[in-house]
Amino acid sequence: MFLANTHPDHGKPLVHEDAETLGVAAAVEVERFLSHRPNHAETPLHRLDALAAALGLGAVHVKDEGFRLGLGSFKALGGSYAVIRLVLEEASRRLERPVDIAELHTPAVRDVAARMTYACATDGNHGRSVAQGAELVGARAAIFVHSGVSDNRVAAIARFGAEMIRVEGNYDESVAEAARVAAERGWTTVSDTSWPGYERIPGLVMQGYTAIPREALRQLDRPPTHVFVQAGVGGVAAALAGHLAILLGETRPTFVVVDPARAACLYETARAGHPVKVPHGEPTVMAMLECYEPSLVAWRVLSRAADGFMTVDEAEAVAVMNRLAHPAGRDPAIVAGESGGVGLAGLIQAAENPEARVRLGLDAASRVLLINTEGATDPERYALLVPAAAANRQSSAVG
Ligand SMILES: Cc1ncc(COP(=O)(O)O)c(C=O)c1O
Repeated sequence: MFLANTHPDHGKPLVHEDAETLGVAAAVEVERFLSHRPNHAETPLHRLDALAAALGLGAVHVKDEGFRLGLGSFKALGGSYAVIRLVLEEASRRLERPVDIAELHTPAVRDVAARMTYACATDGNHGRSVAQGAELVGARAAIFVHSGVSDNRVAAIARFGAEMIRVEGNYDESVAEAARVAAERGWTTVSDTSWPGYERIPGLVMQGYTAIPREALRQLDRPPTHVFVQAGVGGVAAALAGHLAILLGETRPTFVVVDPARAACLYETARAGHPVKVPHGEPTVMAMLECYEPSLVAWRVLSRAADGFMTVDEAEAVAVMNRLAHPAGRDPAIVAGESGGVGLAGLIQAAENPEARVRLGLDAASRVLLINTEGATDPERYALLVPAAAANRQSSAVG
């Protein structure tokens, strides 16, 4: 299902604070921070020519975030970056002088970090990032997980030394509980979603994601004509759409946000024209996208910089995991977890629908950029959904 963005702000420049958060100077700083990370490397950008030909498109490029910072998903860029920034800010306050990332491992900064606790709720990947960041700086992490988060995913966070707290209910309830307990105990909440009065830290998380479009633009000969990105609360879609709009202005690509039909909070928000909470139904296989309320900052950006919103169903998400694992022609195989290939599922649906092709201007000259947002971050689940590929998985599984 495709919905064009008809919001009155569509096409307008980002508001000042979002332009600062997602602008070029901020993104350059994000990459400077990354250069100080021991396990940092640009993630690969794959070109899938056989897939493009099958869809009647000029080119399809997939940026593979399964390789990001040893965590298996793009989320590695956001939570850990926010934690590092927050520790440096706290150190600057306490030491009464500016403290740079180059000083992160000095005794004075470690001493400040050791007094801090960073908390968040997670479906899995964001918590892994916050926990990794806290471990890196020598702070504590308290990670809240709802009842749908698998034991494998909990173990993958706990290995960074985080305190794990189980919450009855769904993702949104775990977000509220994390914020409540953190306020009570003086912890800092590092959420990937924002709400009225809580925008700065989720903004930093989104800022961390700007490394993706910067790398992709360096890896491509020319900017893409179209970008399809999957959404949970909308943070990564907004980071890409916002950064590309700032950088490319009028020549920015057509940008489409793809939601699971069972948790279509951005789609329904776009339809209503303002943030809405969607009712909880059956859980979706796209576990990392199972969010029922959009991030306020993300929606503010997407209402301006996204051109369309789509939903994909359960079978489409699983089919795309298998299609990426068993590619046509000489296309490389890509390991995409349950939420990783959802942007491609949206593209396939649009490319195979004559009306959507026309509305989006998808044709043989289109160069589409997609983000495989995660590898097999839950290997058991991956093996169930992509049985034949599990045996010879070539990348991205993280324990
Ligand atoms: C693998 C993966 N893809 C996409 C998303 C969606 O990101 P956002 O919640 O910023 O929209 C998430 C969020 O956790 C994720 O883990």
